[in-house]
This record gives sequence, structure tokens and C-alpha cells, in this order.
Amino acid sequence: MSETLYPVPADIAAAAYIDDAKYQEMYKASITNPDGFWGEHGKRIDWIKPFTKVKNTSYDPHNVSIKWFEDGTLNVSANCIDRHLETRGDKPAIIWEGDDPSEHKVITYRELYAEVNKFANVLHAMGVKKGDRVTLYLPMIPEAAYAMLACARLGAIHSIVFGGFSPDSLAQRISGCDSKVIVTADEGLRGGRKVPLKANVDKALETLDVDKVVVVRRTGGDVSMTEGRDVWYHEEAERVSDHCEPVEVNAEDPLFILYTSGSTGQPKGVLHTSGGYLVYASMTHQYIFDCKDDDIYWCTADVGWVTGHSYIVYGPLANGATTLMFEGIPSYPSPSRFWDVVDKHKVSIFYTAPTAIRALMGAGVEHVEKTDRSSLRILGSVGEPINPEAWQWFYDHVGNKRCPIVDTWWQTETGGILITPLPGATALKPGSATRPFFGVQPALVDAEGQILEGATEGNLVILDSWPGQMRTVYGDHERFVQTYFSTYKGMYFSGDGCRRDEDGYYWITGRVDDVINVSGHRMGTAEVESALVAHPKVSEAAVVGYPHDLKGQGIYVYVTLMDGEEPSEDLAKELRGWVRQEIGPIASPDLIQFAPGLPKTRSGKIMRRILRKIAEDSFDNLGDTSTLADPAVVEDLIENRQNRA
Ligand code: WTA
Repeated sequence: MSETLYPVPADIAAAAYIDDAKYQEMYKASITNPDGFWGEHGKRIDWIKPFTKVKNTSYDPHNVSIKWFEDGTLNVSANCIDRHLETRGDKPAIIWEGDDPSEHKVITYRELYAEVNKFANVLHAMGVKKGDRVTLYLPMIPEAAYAMLACARLGAIHSIVFGGFSPDSLAQRISGCDSKVIVTADEGLRGGRKVPLKANVDKALETLDVDKVVVVRRTGGDVSMTEGRDVWYHEEAERVSDHCEPVEVNAEDPLFILYTSGSTGQPKGVLHTSGGYLVYASMTHQYIFDCKDDDIYWCTADVGWVTGHSYIVYGPLANGATTLMFEGIPSYPSPSRFWDVVDKHKVSIFYTAPTAIRALMGAGVEHVEKTDRSSLRILGSVGEPINPEAWQWFYDHVGNKRCPIVDTWWQTETGGILITPLPGATALKPGSATRPFFGVQPALVDAEGQILEGATEGNLVILDSWPGQMRTVYGDHERFVQTYFSTYKGMYFSGDGCRRDEDGYYWITGRVDDVINVSGHRMGTAEVESALVAHPKVSEAAVVGYPHDLKGQGIYVYVTLMDGEEPSEDLAKELRGWVRQEIGPIASPDLIQFAPGLPKTRSGKIMRRILRKIAEDSFDNLGDTSTLADPAVVEDLIENRQNRA
């Protein structure tokens, strides 16, 4: 790996909120006196009733309990909107850039106030009240942000489902949290193609009972409306006022649920609460992106993922920043689109994912070079380890060697960024997420949970709580405890492997559990397997990740068929379509290998280690295969592998 050091540019350090001395001082204070540190920084948001208690957390597996600012009360939407009106009423809150380059819209804080209040009143009229769950299945349109903030205004809990998920996945996530109201759009628009959101909702609801479906009109496409259940947002909005009193909630009242994949079972409803989450999202957003009042900040994520929650909506808006929301994709109508948007809106902070960078890198540097990009100041990366080549390209060609890159490591569970450079404080190494943010105590442990010191490699754990941490798995606290606090007792286990170098810099190496990361999308191999075995011709399936040039990891599937079924190209195609339909296009298998048998131990456990090696095309060193029930299956698997170098 590259160890070239990029020092902090002097002009950036001079103008930044945090330089290295300040980082050292604040980091130390945050660890030695968390109550004092967070008690002070907790005041960055407006409280209705100020907190008197700061940290009350326990990682003891017999009693995992995480509470921050527990006696304070607030309203999250008032923090993101109302409190800015006096000084920033006419400042753009959201710049929306449509899929088609001819479409954009600027929404000021004052306009955002009116829109969110109206949306809240519509939801209220549909029966939504404090504590209710509302599922949002929306494209990247301003109404997605309005709906989130409207829920927050009412003290209701939103659960966003990414528009790329299938009706089945959507249904699972609606019933998982028992939402009675769904907000969707007629259709989404991405790269000139329509996404049938309302039709998907209709399919999902074939077997479910909900009270209301609120439909936002986006494309004007033809959709069917079920009498008594479905309403058009624009019609309902005409009937309500544009003032809705924000509901006072406790710091530990839930703000949202977001389903995410783990190594076992079905997706978990990650629950985030209000006070600590907002303090952490806003503080990380300000310092990590060094975001100032005149910045135009753009995070290219989708609001269906946690990055969209914390760093398109809640963090930036709590800070009174201007956040750009993009409906489209990086390659439409051309691979210059990102940079055209940067020039068009004078974007100064640009936060994206390695998979997008690699795809644009592949399209050729000329698409970058013909654009100006002089407005850019800070670049960011998130979602998967960024390979040094992609880092270098991003740095050299997009940022013209002027802009620091913050490689931000975090997870749906962490609510906000945990390990990252700070632009004015941290010398960069391509491929390293560098150092912990304030209050974050990372450690590396071996398989037994022994903490490893110095330059070493191990499993990444966090030793103590920070305010943005998830509080529980919705409806299943035991699963929360089991998943995160039982592997290594008394520590939060991230599921990631990591190396620490001589300078104390962290280098995330990727998941060490059965989660794969495909184009920055998290996927449990178990989910894909259970979709496959639901196919009538499939007897058994095992899914592993393998290195993929563009996606980071690709999905490699081993399938054994029912007696009498024959492998064929057509069947492989059918299975791909099946998984897309069961889970969504993001789970579509890249490589499918039909196998007469899978390698199993004598007790019947599939030996994934072997399957991973074969998928990586590195089968010379398969390790100990002597415990296999039938060693001959390995020969066949190697012989028919799909990923030959
Ligand atoms: C991976 C996304 C390396 C990691 C915010 C983590 C990263 C998982 C980075 C969480 C990074 C995220 N470097 N790996 N900068 N950022 N990851 O929940 O494996 O969608 O555990 O949250 O993405 O994915 P999630």
C-alpha cells in the first residue's frame, strides 16, 4: 500500500476550524473527560429543555444501554430549519439538481420551513403522531427531505427504504416496523430511466395492510390509486396550513429506523434517537468537511442510505449549510455530469464513493479535464476502502492536487463518521481513513479479543460510546447485544478488519464477517442465499464476495440444483432475474457457478473460507481441507471456477 504522505496545505490549515494542535487538544479532552467535552458540544443544537446529564452508557453484555443527554428535550426539525430563519431565511438550504441537466431548484430556509410544515400537516391529517413509524420509499427529490423533516417535526419515526429495493424487500421493511403510512412517488427518474415506485408499493401492499399511501407526483406517469388508501400529496397539501408546531421530544426518543444487512438473518432495523444523533451528525459535518457558512456542500449519496440521512439532510441542515441533492447518476447524460454540476452550482465540498470514482476513472480523464472545478476545496470518500489508485486519481484530476480528501470510515450503526482525517489537521496517506474523531476510541483485537498495541492488524472495535451510536435493533434489543457486544465482551465490534501503522493511522481492510460491500452497498450473503434457495430449481446456495474492479466486491454465487435440473446459461440468467426480483437490482449476482456439491465439514457446515478462495481465483493455498466430508467437491469447484485470472 502507498505510504506517501500529503501534508496539510498551509492555506487550508490556516482557515480551518481545527488544525493539528487543536485536534490533539480536543481529542485528549474528549477521551479523558467525555462528560465535560460532550456537555459543552451538546450545546451546539437548540434544546427546549436543556440536558443536565450527558453520558450514561454501558457496553456490559448483560446490560447494554446507551443514553446521551437523556433528560434534555428538543425538536430535530426546528433545529434544522426554524432556528436558522432569523439569520439565514433567504439562504439556500437545498439545491436540487434533477436527473435531466435542464432541471434544478433552489429551496431557501424560509421555503424549506413552509414545505416541511405543510408536509407535517399532511402526515398529521393521515393520522401520523409521535412515535408512529412512517416508511418513505422515494426518489432523490426535495420531498424526500421534506418528508424526513416532517416526521421529525411530529416526533414520528421515519424508515427510509432505498428506491432500488424490490417490492418484497419493501414489504419486509414495512411490516418489520409496522408502518401504517407510506410515502412514495409515482415514479423515480435515474439516468433517463423511470423507476416504478408506486407500482412497487402496490405490489408490496398486496399482502399488507396500511392506512394511507401518500403519493408525490414526480414524472406524471400513470399509476393506479386505491380508493380510500392512496392520496396525492399535492392535493392534500392544498388543504393544510404551512404552520405546524414542532413536537417536543426527549433526547432519547427515536428519530429514525434504517434497515441494514448483517452477517446473519434478515436486515436489522437500526434505531437512532434524536439528541445525541443530531449533536454528532452536525458536529462531524462541520469539522470533517470544514464546512463554513458560504460553502456549497454536495454529498452524492442517496437518502435511502445512512450517508444521505446524516450528511445530506440532518448534519448540513442542523448547521444551516447549503446542501445539494442530486436525483441522477454520475454517467448521465455523460461522465462529466458530476463536474458539470460542481461548476453549475459552484460546489466547494464534494463527498462521494470510491465506486463512483472508479467508474469515472474508467470513462477517461478527458471528461474531468474539460470542466473547471475551481470552486472545489474539500473532497470526501465513503462506503468502502478507497484503493490508492482511485484516491490518487480523485486527488490529482478532480481536485487538481489542491483539495484534501477526507476518507471517512463509519457505518449505519455509528450514525456519523468515526475515523477520518480533518482537512486542516491531518496529513493524508492514500487509502487510509487516518485517525479517530473526537470521543472515538478505536482498538484492534485478535480473535480472542485481546487488545493489540502498536503497528498491527486485527479486528476493529470501539471501546466506548459516542453520541451518534445506534441505540438498539428496533424491536429486538437482544439481537443488538448479540450482534455488536458479544463477540468481544464489553466492546462494540464493527465487523471490519483493520491495520494500524507506525503513525497510528488506521487502514480499514474490509469486512471480516459474512457481509459484502458491492458498490458501497452493504449486503448480507445470507440474504442472497435465502433468496436463491427460494427458487424451485435450487437445492443449495452459497454466496461470497470477490474483488471486482469497479464495484469493489462482486457477488459470486455457488448453486447446487435439485435432482433432475440441468445447469445452463438460461438458468443462470433466470436466477439473476430472480434475485433482482426478490431483493433488488443491487443484489444481482455477478458470477454464478453451478456445482454438484458444496464443500462441507462432516457436521454439515459449509466451508466458506474455501469458497472465498476459489472465488478470488487464489486456490493454491486452500488451507486445511482434511476435515471436509467429501474432498472431491473442491476439485470440481476449482475446475469450473468462473473467475479465472
Ligand atoms: C465500509 C456506510 C473503508 C465498512 C457509511 C463498513 C468503509 C461498512 C468506509 C458500513 C471507508 C464505510 N473505508 N470501509 N471510508 N466507509 N466502509 O452501513 O466495511 O452502509 O463496515 O455505512 O462500509 O456500510 P454502511
